[in-house]
Amino acid sequence: MAHKQLHIGMSLAPTWLSGDGWRHEGSNIEHTFGTDFFVDIARRAEAAKLDFIFRPDSLFLNAPIMETSPGFGSLDSTVLMAALARETSKIGLLSTVSTTFMPPYVVARQIMSLHQISNGRAGWNIVTALDGNENFGLETMPSSDERYARAAEFTEVVRSLWESFPDAALKRDRQSGQFADTSLIQPVHHEGAHFKVKGPLNLPSYRDVAIPLFQAGASPAGRSFAASVADAIFSATPDLDAAIDLRKDLRSLAESHGRKADDVRLLPGLSLYLAPTRKEAEELFIYTHARTSRARKIASIRDMTGLDLTNWADDQPVKAADLPPVPVVLRSKTHAGLLRRLIEREEPVLRDLLHRPEVISAGHWQVIGTVDDAVESVKHWQEAGAIDGFITAPGGSSGSMNLALDELMPRLSEIGLLRSEYSGNTLANHIYE
Ligand SMILES: Cc1cc2nc3c(=O)[nH]c(=O)nc-3n(C[C@H](O)[C@H](O)[C@H](O)COP(=O)(O)O)c2cc1C
Repeated sequence: MAHKQLHIGMSLAPTWLSGDGWRHEGSNIEHTFGTDFFVDIARRAEAAKLDFIFRPDSLFLNAPIMETSPGFGSLDSTVLMAALARETSKIGLLSTVSTTFMPPYVVARQIMSLHQISNGRAGWNIVTALDGNENFGLETMPSSDERYARAAEFTEVVRSLWESFPDAALKRDRQSGQFADTSLIQPVHHEGAHFKVKGPLNLPSYRDVAIPLFQAGASPAGRSFAASVADAIFSATPDLDAAIDLRKDLRSLAESHGRKADDVRLLPGLSLYLAPTRKEAEELFIYTHARTSRARKIASIRDMTGLDLTNWADDQPVKAADLPPVPVVLRSKTHAGLLRRLIEREEPVLRDLLHRPEVISAGHWQVIGTVDDAVESVKHWQEAGAIDGFITAPGGSSGSMNLALDELMPRLSEIGLLRSEYSGNTLANHIYE
């Protein structure tokens, strides 16, 4: 039976250098603030016919973490994508920009610039940010609900600005001397709770090619916002049931917003620790996280749940009844919710809890094993109706990243889960096809 094709993206984060991954010989860690490092991966992702390359982004630096690990310091996502646009020709370029700090006019212009530079390959991953308020004069981080209210208005302004200067307005008629039909270039006159923007944008749209919208953040407010506008959701769903539930919920929310269920696609992060044998993959995983201190993991559990496990024994089960009420202030309701869910469902002993993706990483679906194991897991999730695709975030080492791009992706093409040829040259084409 032919499988339904998935939408697959490659994260350039680079997650395979996280933890102790950067310490391997040949990791190229010296080059992550340049472009050659990413050009190589972008070209290989395009050779594998992926839908898009993707860059998460943030506007703060967690300096203490950088004592031992690369952390989240990075090139600006949209600037990096602009450099990669010149080195590729088909693959989509998904940039992450938060709606919490920047003015919408600037963001509309940056993403449309990327769309122009790449001949229609831009996408915007809308996030509401986890931190960084103090870099923008805000004493505290606005609550999740406030951030989503702002995100909804921000996105509306950006979309209106994108429509305010259609490509069709450009006449460039040498004969008559008419450069543009200005009746087609219209102000947006937006006045809302957060923004007052006149418009129009000072940059035309790229033909009629849409800019697909992605979103990340799965609290009730996040889901509702995503279901109202996003073409795809980048999710943290560590187990199959979490993905099935989220996908069902988003599809029905999309319908309640007057859209079709198929208009929102669920693309979970897929963390891959790949090696030629399962034993080597296990060793890679253990090596990668060996220096993440117990104190840091305990602190992370405390921040997300309010439960302090400092003096607990390794073999003591952590039970649902141990969980205090949900803390009022949370950086991410999504990640806190995933951890609570894990404890409530499995009541794991502390030793096991400290190894789970919900605690040590971003809470993604994870495969630690061979390329065959990864193929099976993807098939299983696809057949279970849990996903419309995924964003791969390889972990552990460059070797693991190489296996993901150069072996796993061709295998998925062979069994019909990934295209073998592009049918167009834009991200909209790849996502809507
Ligand atoms: C899978 C996932 C990826 C995210 N990536 C980013 C990111 O790259 N940059 C960022 O500033 N915030 C990121 N966030 C944070 C969200 O945009 C959001 O601010 C946060 O999850 C709080 O929303 P929530 O209450 O809906 O969870 C991400 C969240 C999730 C769940």
